[in-house]
Amino acid sequence: MDFKKSVVYQIYPKSFCDSNGDGFGDLKGVTAKLDYLKELGVDYIWMTPFFVSPQNDNGYDVEDYYNIDPRYGTMEDFEELCQGAADRGIRIMLDMVFNHTSTRHEWFQKALSGDPRYKDFYIFKKGKGPGVPPTNWESKFGGNSWEYVEKFDEYYLHLFDVTQADLNWDNPEVRAEIQKVVRFWMEKGVKGFRFDVVNLISKGAFEDDFEGDGRRFYTDGPRIHEYLQELNAATFGTDAEIITVGEMSSTSMENCYRYASEDGKELSMVFSFHHLKTDFVGNEKWVIVPNDFQKLKQILFDWQTHMSENHAWNAVFWCNHDQPRVVSRMGDEGKYWKESAKMLGTVIHCLRGTPYIYQGEELGMTNAGFNQIDQYKDVESLNHFRILVEKGVPESAAYEILKIHSRDNSRTPMQWDGGKYAGFSDAEPWISVNPNHVRINAEAQLQDEDSIFHYYQKLIRLRKDYDVIAYGDLEPLDAKHPSVMAYRRTWENQELLMIANFYGKETAWDAGCDLEGYTRLAGSYADTSLVGTEVKLRPYEAAVLYKEN
Ligand code: GLC
Repeated sequence: MDFKKSVVYQIYPKSFCDSNGDGFGDLKGVTAKLDYLKELGVDYIWMTPFFVSPQNDNGYDVEDYYNIDPRYGTMEDFEELCQGAADRGIRIMLDMVFNHTSTRHEWFQKALSGDPRYKDFYIFKKGKGPGVPPTNWESKFGGNSWEYVEKFDEYYLHLFDVTQADLNWDNPEVRAEIQKVVRFWMEKGVKGFRFDVVNLISKGAFEDDFEGDGRRFYTDGPRIHEYLQELNAATFGTDAEIITVGEMSSTSMENCYRYASEDGKELSMVFSFHHLKTDFVGNEKWVIVPNDFQKLKQILFDWQTHMSENHAWNAVFWCNHDQPRVVSRMGDEGKYWKESAKMLGTVIHCLRGTPYIYQGEELGMTNAGFNQIDQYKDVESLNHFRILVEKGVPESAAYEILKIHSRDNSRTPMQWDGGKYAGFSDAEPWISVNPNHVRINAEAQLQDEDSIFHYYQKLIRLRKDYDVIAYGDLEPLDAKHPSVMAYRRTWENQELLMIANFYGKETAWDAGCDLEGYTRLAGSYADTSLVGTEVKLRPYEAAVLYKEN
């Protein structure tokens, strides 16, 4: 399948649909919803990890790459899901976590028992002195990134939770084991892979970082391209039908030209996150600052134009299981909820790149709004809450920060209907349902022609019907406008304009040409009609206009 014409739908199975009434979503639950996904029109479903795991990071801490965690179901359930998806023309993309394993993984357990072969599967180092870890690098989830093991008088590296030990990719045996895992799932008929934080696998110098948190020493590291090329050649590269996406943490564009080059030597495409840090201060996310709209546009446009010039391909997205809900973040949860959700969808789906939809985004699901610490389940949120309070931030202020930035904002159960647990489960879910499910839910939207669901369905359709969306070049328009983001796409004789007002106030926009000759393909208001040169855009109004030259 041509990935430029495809749309990927991300499922966080734990929160998608619970088929057996234990409050925890599962694979059979996903199978039960395949008709819904078919109706939406997506081509791939990316399943976040369901492998055996202690779930300290909801499955991103893998204990066994070859087996399915019983909470999610069985291998038969997985095969049934693949078959059901294939019957509907949908392919499965798996999420492979190879930067680290759970410390419960057999390899790590053998390492701890002192087996030298397996100790070299991980990164053990001597400290700099008694009680002083090898480097001052910070874990992404808070605290130092090294854990002391008394038995060896050494530390192991964990860039994430202490129960997620980093693998030593410099060891060829590790790379061979990883290849085996990928081939195993290829043989099951999997046609897509997402590689978790894959640009962190090649560690550079183990030096203290006095300028930052250490990331410059292990991000896009010295042998990263070699490792990806090797993995590609030994596994998915042998099957032209397989698509791949790398999650690139704090990456540089220059590296992404190579990761996602159209020559196909590494990956099909990349996720980068710079555009989702415009409400941070630098890399610091545990703060409250307004979203910098000018910066957002500049970053998106830079990635769009430079990746294109360098023949590389982006994954385009606002939402995933690590990001707050975009309608809460950049739109309006209140009066213009529907218009802003549609506007944000329009911006992404008309970009050059493969769009990813995160479950519930197509319904305009909003942030969780949790205000009690026991409602939060995410290890990162819990750690940072503690760190904020230890730093002297009042608890009430720390809650406000979590309410905006916590990853749990997007992990609440999928809102299927207005019933007690939103149709997600018959039992109390592992994480609370958003009370607004009585209003925001799939059942209601499927019946409403003008719903966000039907709008997303239309956006997906447009990509299939208009080559300019899949293949066209992109030119930013009026890039400095205070409230509008707009761009022109061109391909052969096709031309498409995307215009979006990001704010809740009417604004004027100068199209620079007469819009008379364009046809309206979509818009966040049912009755969008933009004519003339100088147009007025209503609050959160977006429009997609098309013409053939
Ligand atoms: C990625 C995942 C995130 C996880 C982390 C560590 O960023 O998307 O959920 O916590 O990697 O595996």
